[in-house]
Amino acid sequence: MLLDAQQLTRRYGTGEAAVDALRDTSFSVAEGEFVAVMGPSGSGKSTLMNLIGLLDGPTSGRLVFAGEDTTHLNHDQLAGLRNRRIGFVFQAYNLLARNTTLENVEMPLVYSGIRRSQRQLSARAALDAVGVSHRVEHWPSELSGGEQQRVAIARALVSNPALILADEPTGALDSRTGQGILALFQSLNRSGRTIVMVTHDEHVAHHARRILRLQDGTLIGDMQVAEPVDAAAAVERQKVVQEKPSEAALA
Ligand SMILES: Nc1ncnc2c1ncn2[C@@H]1O[C@H](COP(=O)(O)OP(=O)(O)OP(=O)(O)O)[C@@H](O)[C@H]1O
Ligand SMILES: [Mg+2]
Repeated sequence: MLLDAQQLTRRYGTGEAAVDALRDTSFSVAEGEFVAVMGPSGSGKSTLMNLIGLLDGPTSGRLVFAGEDTTHLNHDQLAGLRNRRIGFVFQAYNLLARNTTLENVEMPLVYSGIRRSQRQLSARAALDAVGVSHRVEHWPSELSGGEQQRVAIARALVSNPALILADEPTGALDSRTGQGILALFQSLNRSGRTIVMVTHDEHVAHHARRILRLQDGTLIGDMQVAEPVDAAAAVERQKVVQEKPSEAALA
């Protein structure tokens, strides 16, 4: 198992004000899975992501990542594991405005002791993989939302992580651009990447192969998706509709 969450509880605050954002949640994720985490606002999705992304620790329970019990790791050990093994994608892209596309994608490798020339090669390869290699010298502000999210995905991929964690990755995009991002995730998953993606959108969730459902901090569902929506096919269909002149336009 890549991820093994055992009875994770995360409590915020103490006494009267205490809130269990996540309660006694157990599940595991194998290598190569594409899992969506669904649930209404406040159900604990981001709390869960922070725990499995090793950004936060549980109040009780434990998380085993790639066979390693993370419970007793110190801050630096957690940061090291996170930097090497996990790539993050957020709704708001979080690119550095004063750095070019290439520099943004290189960033996760800067502290790893890899030579600059090698970092740039890896960054270019990651940008190639997400289809924005023609934008390497651009500033983030010069890119469309969809392109910015692709750059953020390249940055998540550049260290060749075991796990991609995405929190509402299409939340800021129009539905067509979002489909493109989902098609990219599906293609990365087909080539073996493990992806866990948070969404509150049922249609988006059905691009994954498995859906976990949270409600009030509790896991209430875990199902396989029999036939995930094929995002690439949807993008193609939209192109055909747009490019084919309607009967009315021809008349
Ligand atoms: N730092 C915090 N301190 C106190 N309470 C918090 C904190 N973070 C989250 N909570 C509470 O924990 C619960 C779960 O929050 P969480 O952010 O995980 O929900 P979510 O499912 O990601 O919601 P959304 O869809 O709105 O992003 C909520 O009741 C929230 O108010
Ligand atoms: Mg959230």
